[in-house]
Amino acid sequence: MNRVIPIMPAAGGAPGAAAASPARAPVPPSGALTDAFGRTLRDLRISVTDHCNFRCTYCMPKEVFGKDYVFLPHGQLLSFEEIARLASVFAAHGVRKFRLTGGEPLLRRNIERLIEMLARIPGVELTLTTNGSALAGHARALKMAGLRRVTVSLDSLDDETFRAMNDVDFPVARVLEGIEAAADAGLSPVKINMVVKRSLNRASILPMARRFHGTGHILRYIEFMDVGQTNGWRMDEVVPSREVVRLVDAQMPLEPVDANYPGEVAERWRYRDGGGEIGVISSVTQAFCRSCTRARISPEGKLYTCLFANHGTDFRALLRSGSSDEEISALLRQVWSARDDRYSELRTQATANLPKVEMSFIGG
Ligand code: GTP
Ligand code: 5AD
Ligand code: SF4
Ligand code: SF4
Repeated sequence: MNRVIPIMPAAGGAPGAAAASPARAPVPPSGALTDAFGRTLRDLRISVTDHCNFRCTYCMPKEVFGKDYVFLPHGQLLSFEEIARLASVFAAHGVRKFRLTGGEPLLRRNIERLIEMLARIPGVELTLTTNGSALAGHARALKMAGLRRVTVSLDSLDDETFRAMNDVDFPVARVLEGIEAAADAGLSPVKINMVVKRSLNRASILPMARRFHGTGHILRYIEFMDVGQTNGWRMDEVVPSREVVRLVDAQMPLEPVDANYPGEVAERWRYRDGGGEIGVISSVTQAFCRSCTRARISPEGKLYTCLFANHGTDFRALLRSGSSDEEISALLRQVWSARDDRYSELRTQATANLPKVEMSFIGG
């Protein structure tokens, strides 16, 4: 089972567990899969590579992901055909959104071909999260291949701060070009993810808000999380979303907006002057496990049922041994129905040191 710490399902009646456990979700449509807490499977995040050309200090610190780090050899990665087959089985079980991630997904050669294949699966929204470094050159081809929209990570507009955070001296200007190219190609609305770490980029919160106000792009501030085992997480480095909203609201008044869909990760706020919206992702201070409908596939075909899991279930072996779709479905049903993850609700400084899969491996 893919869990980090032993926890009891609400129905198990562990002392004190019922109140803290996720409330049962509304009755799902028939045929949909539900987990131990009644949560359906709606989103599939597919990591297509463990490589990245950035070394963001909160994700792939150089001390760990340096020149001696061994990445997966190409033969271990799922092929595009394998990914597409797995994705159709997930779609048959209720998945309505595929998000391609990495590492950096645009580093996977011919990624547009995979997008074409996934775009043929009916009824599923197709999107991608990128660091933006190669987006300007890819945006039109991605759109033509059938990608609906993109999310771009950008932690600061201040070149020195951004270069220090990506730790490979990559300039802000090229990411901004990528964002504009994506919008011009119709991959909109473009969402922009800014991870906020108190000692590094708190001062970038307002300049980022001002820069994207009125552009149609949606800036989201993400609380710094204790993903993986190597990012040196500390609670005092987390800037709570409350604080971010207060800061922005004081300069550019905000009002809350309803979620686009149940279980949306970002809490939405809009500018009262009509300048668009921002979002805050508060995985640390306001855990959203009770509505978590996300599954993640790693580049070598393991299914993780939580961002903070310490192991995944291998689907590649089934894909490579001639198993039928029904056999793949059966394993998926088994894993999802046993799922009882709710790491963010249980997080403490102590759990930060438990073994967990690296973020760069399963794409956030
Ligand atoms: P859209 O609403 O379609 O734009 O997607 P999204 O917000 O789910 O996707 P995105 O990749 O932009 O997610 C934003 C960030 O939120 C991720 O990169 C993670 O840092 C964080 N996040 C997303 N899903 C989870 C989750 O299930 N648990 C936790 N703890 N964090 C998550
Ligand atoms: N905390 C919060 N967000 C993170 N991301 C990567 N590492 C962390 C972390 N430790 C974000 C990236 C990207 C998305 C895939 O996850 O900035 O937007
Ligand atoms: Fe940074 Fe994303 Fe690369 Fe991690 S995967 S190092 S967050 S660009
Ligand atoms: Fe979902 Fe994140 Fe909670 Fe895990 S920690 S169950 S991925 S919301």
